[in-house]
Amino acid sequence: MAPAPSSTNSAVTLNINGEKHTLTVDHRTTLLDALRERLDLTGTKKGCDQGQCGACTVLLDGRRAVSCLQLAVAAEGREITTIEGVAQGEKLHPVQQAFLDLDGYQCGYCTPGQICSAIAVIEEHAAGWPSAATDDVRPAAAPPPLTPEEIRERMSGNLCRCGAYVSIVQAVARAAGIETEAAQTEGVETEGAAA
Ligand code: FES
Ligand code: FES
Repeated sequence: MAPAPSSTNSAVTLNINGEKHTLTVDHRTTLLDALRERLDLTGTKKGCDQGQCGACTVLLDGRRAVSCLQLAVAAEGREITTIEGVAQGEKLHPVQQAFLDLDGYQCGYCTPGQICSAIAVIEEHAAGWPSAATDDVRPAAAPPPLTPEEIRERMSGNLCRCGAYVSIVQAVARAAGIETEAAQTEGVETEGAAA
């Protein structure tokens, strides 16, 4: 039974994937634990629980955030998107489709966080945000091309213990509309295998 509001608990309404959920949580409850333990949204994964692996990445108002470092009570009023909410009905999000087509995963544990992060990376890049890999960060400079180096840097907060990084970079590039040489080769091989 859900605890009643008190000096240590509060009722919060969380807007998750377009649906409002009202629940009473201990003030120390992280958004990650509220999603997984209270709302059964277990697509968001817990890895380190201390902000270092990116497995718990969700989108808050369209920007990526590690949900293990976010208090559930502080997420009230924000638009929260988890991996369960990125597809359009039966149609996968282009980033999901690219991960599937290019094997951007092995065990899949880090994948929900990788995909949420990649969605935001593509938007950040399209908005002209530089990264630590960008040569010219002056405001007047042209947006950096989304090179594999840029993708690796921008995705560096998402660790993959399986080491699927090569395919992850290819998948992010494809979802952004850029074909890396390796992904093109992969596509040819896949088509050849299907023929
Ligand atoms: S579980 Fe949140 S960053 Fe690792
Ligand atoms: S696919 Fe296994 S941890 Fe990334």
